Amino acid sequence: MFKDLLIPPKNGSTRFIFLGGKGGVGKSTLAAAIALGLAEEGYRVLLASTDLQKSQNDILSQEIGSEETKVNGFDNFEAINIDAKESIRKHQLEVIKKIGSLRGDEAEILWLKEYWEKNPVLPCETASYNVFVQYMNSNEYDTIVFDTAPGGHNLDMIGYPWKQLDRLKKSIMVKREVADLTGKTAEIELLEKMAGDNIKAIEKLCSEETSYLLVLHPEMLPVYEAKRIQESLAPYGIPIKGLILNEVLPKEVCTNYFFRERRKLQEKYIALVRNEFPNMEIIEVPLIETEVVGIERVKRIAEVIMGG
Ligand SMILES: Nc1ncnc2c1ncn2[C@@H]1O[C@H](COP(=O)(O)OP(=O)(O)OP(=O)(O)O)[C@@H](O)[C@H]1O
Ligand SMILES: [Mg+2]
Repeated sequence: MFKDLLIPPKNGSTRFIFLGGKGGVGKSTLAAAIALGLAEEGYRVLLASTDLQKSQNDILSQEIGSEETKVNGFDNFEAINIDAKESIRKHQLEVIKKIGSLRGDEAEILWLKEYWEKNPVLPCETASYNVFVQYMNSNEYDTIVFDTAPGGHNLDMIGYPWKQLDRLKKSIMVKREVADLTGKTAEIELLEKMAGDNIKAIEKLCSEETSYLLVLHPEMLPVYEAKRIQESLAPYGIPIKGLILNEVLPKEVCTNYFFRERRKLQEKYIALVRNEFPNMEIIEVPLIETEVVGIERVKRIAEVIMGG
């Protein structure tokens, strides 16, 4: 069942859900609907968005902060707009905490704080990706649904732990070489801890715990689109586990020539997708008559998904 890809795995670990697909196909809407559907079933859910457009504020009709924010009406459903600037500050605090717990070196912490004050770092997406790695290492939630910005951002974020691990390994190697040459001990605990976090994130991304779902309109060569994304994920060893065919015209409203023809076109593509991906979980979500804004409308979509 499609729902099995959404509920936490049986071993009690956190389920991580990613939604990929072209711009505007409904990724943010469906991310919100999945998160809401799971929260309604009592799971502890986080909806984490890295989209600068902050679409979730509109979809959930409330201000979502750069800290975990409770979604109105729920105790077990939080959302966050991961903000790059804020992420850098958080990351710096995290580094200070780690230095403190590993070495308790007050002088180094003070030096770092002064250095960061004098040299503010420009916000960059990498900062958000670090938060993503932290979430992949947390077990505070039953499910974390990631809503990424459009474009190549989704794959950039997914590939980040691999790239970061590579950089960290190189830094550790250089530090060791310098230590050998100077006869000093290499201070690499922090880098090793960060490398460890990235390794865990990679393991989880490639495991049963992660569900990468692809959102498609059953109209514009969706098979080609799905295959292309499948190929981009293959080098990482991440499979697409499910397809969501969004904005399917409900049969009962297709009563005139125009809509009957469009529905026929959609049915052709739906059949093609089901034929090309016989072992994949596929769900159809209807086009509803309004924008999906506000909890009540998101619930309508959630009911379809949780029932599938
Ligand atoms: N099943 C649906 N029925 C009706 N409207 C829908 C449905 N799914 C999505 N929409 C509408 O389509 C528009 C685009 O949706 P959404 O913002 O979720 O797409 P997206 O893939 O996240 O876009 P982006 O790539 O820009 O992040 C929104 O106005 C949303 O309300
Ligand atoms: Mg979006």
